Amino acid sequence: MIILGIETSCDETSASLVKKGASGNLEIINNTVATSLDLHATTGGIIPENAAREQLKYMLPVIQKTIKPLHDPKTQIDAIAVTVGPGLIGSLLVGVETAKTLSLIWKKPIIPVNHLFGHIYANWLTAESKATNQKLSANSKLDKNDSIQFPALALIVSGNHTDLVLMFSHVKHEVLGSTRDDAAGEAFDKIGRLIGLNYPAGPEIAKRAKNGNPDAATFPRPMKYSHDYDFSFSGLKTAVLRDVKQIKILTDEIIADISLGAEEAIVDVITHKTIKAARQYKVKTILLGGGVAANTKLREELHRKLVIDGLDAQIYAPEKSLCTDNAAMIAAAAFFRNKTQSLKDITVDPELYY
Ligand code: KG4
Ligand code: ZN
Repeated sequence: MIILGIETSCDETSASLVKKGASGNLEIINNTVATSLDLHATTGGIIPENAAREQLKYMLPVIQKTIKPLHDPKTQIDAIAVTVGPGLIGSLLVGVETAKTLSLIWKKPIIPVNHLFGHIYANWLTAESKATNQKLSANSKLDKNDSIQFPALALIVSGNHTDLVLMFSHVKHEVLGSTRDDAAGEAFDKIGRLIGLNYPAGPEIAKRAKNGNPDAATFPRPMKYSHDYDFSFSGLKTAVLRDVKQIKILTDEIIADISLGAEEAIVDVITHKTIKAARQYKVKTILLGGGVAANTKLREELHRKLVIDGLDAQIYAPEKSLCTDNAAMIAAAAFFRNKTQSLKDITVDPELYY
């Protein structure tokens, strides 16, 4: 079975062909991602109208490139999975209307997908990513069939979300906590802006942090010890702003120190709460997802704390390129949560939640 995934929720235009092989494992046949990030870097963030215009420009070329390996897409593709939310309304509409058009022409069902579940299901994508996780794994004794076990705790850390979701199965879940203000990615991006780094600043902060002095800048850990699973990062941003205001010249050294201090604060809070929830709910698996899940310190610190805590859980994280927005994860989610809907019932929902 082959699913064509389409993802246009924000500033990436992506199409992907994902196949379920005989072993039941998902295999990416082709994954194309075009990004309008360079354009948004010039405006210091995303202007929704610009993002939607770029989606329109890239959508058809991206699909054409993706389906090229197929001799006859019309017969080879079994279904179309498309992100219906959450995201920017103009951007989402481009993907959804394209999916509907293809569905009519090719006479294929559409599976509407929640982008947030897409980030979670990026973990089911490739055998290769599982192998990477095996190496990273704290107790490296994977289950015999190497399959992801429930109950699982999903940590979604993206530009707009910092959520802990407890998954009892593919169809039953409970949100344990969310951010009350800025999301983790947003915190990286806003702090980056304060120290003169381009949008999106997460990867650049991680790079600069490598040269930072661990004793130079320490920032608060908002809500680390609160008795819930919520997060808050706006106070951290304010603390960095206060520091930056006192600095006359932002040298590379200072930028590195602040990058390290901020990265450590964000990672510390997120990993502390994730391990606490994993312990409380006795989960078998921790699944990372979202752009910030590409952060090496986050991955390493989570493993470190898991080992210290002696928890018997496996940590999975998608390949780094599949942490940020892509259509392969949308197709992957569709395989497990495949509820097709009639065209007239499929609409975009910018505020869609779990
Ligand atoms: O999941 P994503 O691609 O888009 C949303 O759905 O929001 O996440 C983008 C976010 C940005 O805020 C970016 O700064 C952050 O992920 N990000 C990182 C890293 N790579 C991307 N943050 C920290 N470290 C990274 N290596
Ligand atoms: Zn995303």
